[in-house]
Amino acid sequence: MDVARTFRACPEQSEGSGNTELKVGATVVARRPEARVDNGRRMIYPIVKYGQEVLEKPSAPVTLFDGNLEKLVADMFETMYAANGVGLAAPQIGISLKLCVIDASCGKDANSRIVLANPEVITMEGEQAEEEGCLSLPDFRAKTTRPLHATVRAQDIAGKEFNLSGEGLLARAFCHETDHLGGKLFISHLSRLKRDSIKRQIRRMIKAGEW
Ligand code: NI
Repeated sequence: MDVARTFRACPEQSEGSGNTELKVGATVVARRPEARVDNGRRMIYPIVKYGQEVLEKPSAPVTLFDGNLEKLVADMFETMYAANGVGLAAPQIGISLKLCVIDASCGKDANSRIVLANPEVITMEGEQAEEEGCLSLPDFRAKTTRPLHATVRAQDIAGKEFNLSGEGLLARAFCHETDHLGGKLFISHLSRLKRDSIKRQIRRMIKAGEW
């Protein structure tokens, strides 16, 4: 999930983060995380944009809770902060795994870092309708209705199960990122009219080589 314009605690999403990067991203999609060169340094992945198949299919469960997963999670936080996001799901970097990271403080508070492996939203209460966006659909935002309170059940980086409740932006992020792992994007929560309008604009941008 990207930073809401109304969420002033975080900076705006950086400009022009990359049409050229997208082309790199398209290559990265096919690459397995194990194939990456690991010099012990953090890696910032290109973010996959709407239109790539990996964003619209269910991801595979995380089954190996090892050093590779730890590295991947660290890289996902790095990638998310570089894009000024508050949430990032593995499919958004081309990796079809049920894994996401969330930080509603945008990196300001280390205690706000949340890692969800194999998450499931188990309770939802209330309603909020706020502007929502997604790093995979840069510059498109729309008022999206979500529960005001949500609880996720997930596994942590070591595979240990836990439940976590959140409200407001956090509840929204739980739902948005968990949706990603099921191959669902926030535009699926919009009216058909609004969704079709966004898709049309993206098709036009793809044609013009601007996506
Ligand atoms: Ni998203």
